[in-house]
Amino acid sequence: MHSNEIRRTFLDYFQQKQHTYLSSSPLVLSSDKSLLFVNAGMVPFKNVFLGQEQRPYVRACSSQKCLRVSGKHNDLESVGVSPRHHTFFEMLGNFSFGDYFKQEAIHYAWELLTQVFHLPVERLWVTVYHEDEESARIWEEVGVQRERILSFGDEDNFWSMGEIGPCGPSSEIHYYRGSDPSKQRPEGVNSSDDDYMEIWNLVFMQYNRDEQGTLTPLSAFSVDTGMGLERLTMALQGVQNSYETDLFMPILQRLLELNRQDRAHYLQHSSVYNAIADHSRAMAFLIADHIVPGNNGRDYVLRRLIRRAAYLGRTLGLEQPFLAPVAQVSIDILGEQYPELRQATDDISTILTTEEKRFQRTLSRGLRYLEESCQRLTQSGLHTLPGPEAFKLYDTFGFPFDLTQKILAERGLDVSIQEYEEERMKQQQRSRQHALFKA
Ligand code: GLY
Repeated sequence: MHSNEIRRTFLDYFQQKQHTYLSSSPLVLSSDKSLLFVNAGMVPFKNVFLGQEQRPYVRACSSQKCLRVSGKHNDLESVGVSPRHHTFFEMLGNFSFGDYFKQEAIHYAWELLTQVFHLPVERLWVTVYHEDEESARIWEEVGVQRERILSFGDEDNFWSMGEIGPCGPSSEIHYYRGSDPSKQRPEGVNSSDDDYMEIWNLVFMQYNRDEQGTLTPLSAFSVDTGMGLERLTMALQGVQNSYETDLFMPILQRLLELNRQDRAHYLQHSSVYNAIADHSRAMAFLIADHIVPGNNGRDYVLRRLIRRAAYLGRTLGLEQPFLAPVAQVSIDILGEQYPELRQATDDISTILTTEEKRFQRTLSRGLRYLEESCQRLTQSGLHTLPGPEAFKLYDTFGFPFDLTQKILAERGLDVSIQEYEEERMKQQQRSRQHALFKA
């Protein structure tokens, strides 16, 4: 199935079950100051779960644009290396606002995965929160074997949107994608073994968590589910890596063309190519939602992504600006579902090219400076880059701190965050004094 068909099938299924289809909210919700970006399909409904907002429907479904680059849900460092983590992704979700609860949520999920998408039952595992016997019983009723229902605690099976907000116990469906199903073992689920992949999370919204961490039961119990389209597509297209699905392959293909390289080069440097492909989608969507590169907050997240991608491109040998043509492929793939991408085509191209060129002016010199620093460190038997040098990379050469950390980590080195922060504070102090003096 093509990814467009997979998304459509999910949304059609839930519309047939009386869910109202809602198009994705923007990545930034000005009404929610507790988050930089929407990080889950339920975020636009937060106040509905909390009972503070009424909607004319009690069931909804969506394919929500999500970004996980900060706060409680941050996947940035896994991107590229991991076959299934992304900064930007589409979350398919069905929601009940005080309407159905565990019984229907579990029935729907099982029916859709096994009867509509025809995922093999013998590759599926489910997890429940350790005190949630009710969910375990419902899973057994729908036909899951008892030994495939596993219990986990707060860390794996209790989901919260952020530090505060609606939350509750969850029940997840995991897919075994290894080559030999006879090798499956319960210990693989929720382990670092990449053969086991969480595909769908059913959250039973029962509480609101406040600043003190206190859980207050919600007036109505609700359901929030989230399934990454990229992961489901990976399972249904039978590929080992989400970057091999039709959501990413054309982007990688374009990158290889621009770099005049072939698949062998991709296989040698796949994590770098994958990370660029990931970041290119995120930047296109951010610009389409009116974020521009800058030095603070959300704008700085975009700048960091662009600069990381520009650096990664350089390590692959890409000399000319390449981000705009690569982002164009994301627009081609996803523009129908998200028309804002098409509307912003010119902005995406102009902003990416301008920002990339700006960084390229200092990138080579910054890399030389960093290389010399690394050599000095290694020769002296040291491993930690002094804070002032990391700050110079930021201040003079425009290297986001996390990029410096990443490059150092690639060389087995690190940097003192505390020293870097001290330098940054000193610089702020100097600017303030300078401004005062001028005044
Ligand atoms: N809200 C469910 C999830 O993000 O997994």
